[in-house]
Amino acid sequence: MTTLDLNQHHILITGGAGFIGSWLIRTLLARYPQARITNLDALTYAGNLANLDDVASNPHYTFVHGDITDANLVNELMKQTDVCVNVAAQTHVDRSISGPGIFTETNTMGTQVLLEAARTAHNDAGITKYVQVSTDEVYGSIKTGEFTENSPIQPNSPYSASKAGGDLLVQSYHKTYGFNACITRCSNNYGPYQYPEKLIPLMIHKASNDESLPVYGDGLNVRDWIHVEDHVAGIIRTMEAGQPGETYNFGASHELANIDLVKQLLATLNKPESLITYVQDRPGHDRRYAIDSSKAKQQLGWQPQHTFKDGLQQTIAWYQQHPEWVAAIQQRCAQQQQQLEQGIHTAKAPAGV
Ligand SMILES: NC(=O)c1ccc[n+]([C@@H]2O[C@H](COP(=O)([O-])OP(=O)(O)OC[C@H]3O[C@@H](n4cnc5c(N)ncnc54)[C@H](O)[C@@H]3O)[C@@H](O)[C@H]2O)c1
Repeated sequence: MTTLDLNQHHILITGGAGFIGSWLIRTLLARYPQARITNLDALTYAGNLANLDDVASNPHYTFVHGDITDANLVNELMKQTDVCVNVAAQTHVDRSISGPGIFTETNTMGTQVLLEAARTAHNDAGITKYVQVSTDEVYGSIKTGEFTENSPIQPNSPYSASKAGGDLLVQSYHKTYGFNACITRCSNNYGPYQYPEKLIPLMIHKASNDESLPVYGDGLNVRDWIHVEDHVAGIIRTMEAGQPGETYNFGASHELANIDLVKQLLATLNKPESLITYVQDRPGHDRRYAIDSSKAKQQLGWQPQHTFKDGLQQTIAWYQQHPEWVAAIQQRCAQQQQQLEQGIHTAKAPAGV
């Protein structure tokens, strides 16, 4: 099996100011100090350069403020790129229900712009490798058993459908042009630096402030939780050793009903379960996600390292030790919301927090 030495490469990471992208950049710079990394990020409501404060002055790291749907900019960047990892996306399912258009634009059309630029770069020779960071949500819901990479994709939300659109384009570029691309599909991530609209940081924040914790429906929707460092390790193994045209699932086999997760979190924070409030279910809410990661384990030698108990404790401690990080995000969102209400924001404004 050929393995890329990423020290030799110029790597374009899109969406690097977000949760997973910032972990990926930090980890790559530590593991491959000679690699050259460019971060292309539109700095939407979820993009936060403070996530990368510790590497901002690294001479091997460059930030470019821009959009993956901007073909001219992407073509220029691709001229100096060998390896591209597309992490940029609109990612919040609730927002995709209230405003689906930007999801198709970013997650499907943006992927197409990147693929075309990557395929035609270097006088049509194409870049060395492209990795599409996707999600287990493209498989849809499963009652029993686990999805493998060969399972059909049956997305149910505008978010997962827009991600599935990106995945299909990646597959088509491999089949049609022989383009060297891989797809990663991971389960629900948690860890430090996650935007506080997502379940775990949202619940940590609310419980810490003795606010009520909203749980959708009967709370029995099941998710598999994986620490972001384990996901990033899987992305890096795919960059190094993923085979052309292959898809790899990454999950921690740690299934939890949402209500059990919230109760565990309350117990860790020493807060009462009376804070839990059941709210009307999300439309089209997938009941259970579960993926089989044995292909990544066997073919990439990947293994998740974090236990959920330790990972959750570490994550709670991080949020408690970084109130300024959460406060800065909330302040920025309040400003964006205010601008939106004043009608001076662009079409890419968030729907609200
Ligand atoms: N968070 C999870 O649990 C999870 C699980 C599996 C897969 N994924 C996938 O991982 C990727 C990253 O997820 P995340 O949780 O870090 O998301 P995030 O919302 O924290 O970050 C997304 C980043 O993309 C940037 N971005 C958005 N639109 C852009 C555009 N048009 N051009 C350039 N940059 C743009 C944002 O500014 C932000 O920095 C997504 O593709 C998501 O589908 C996430």
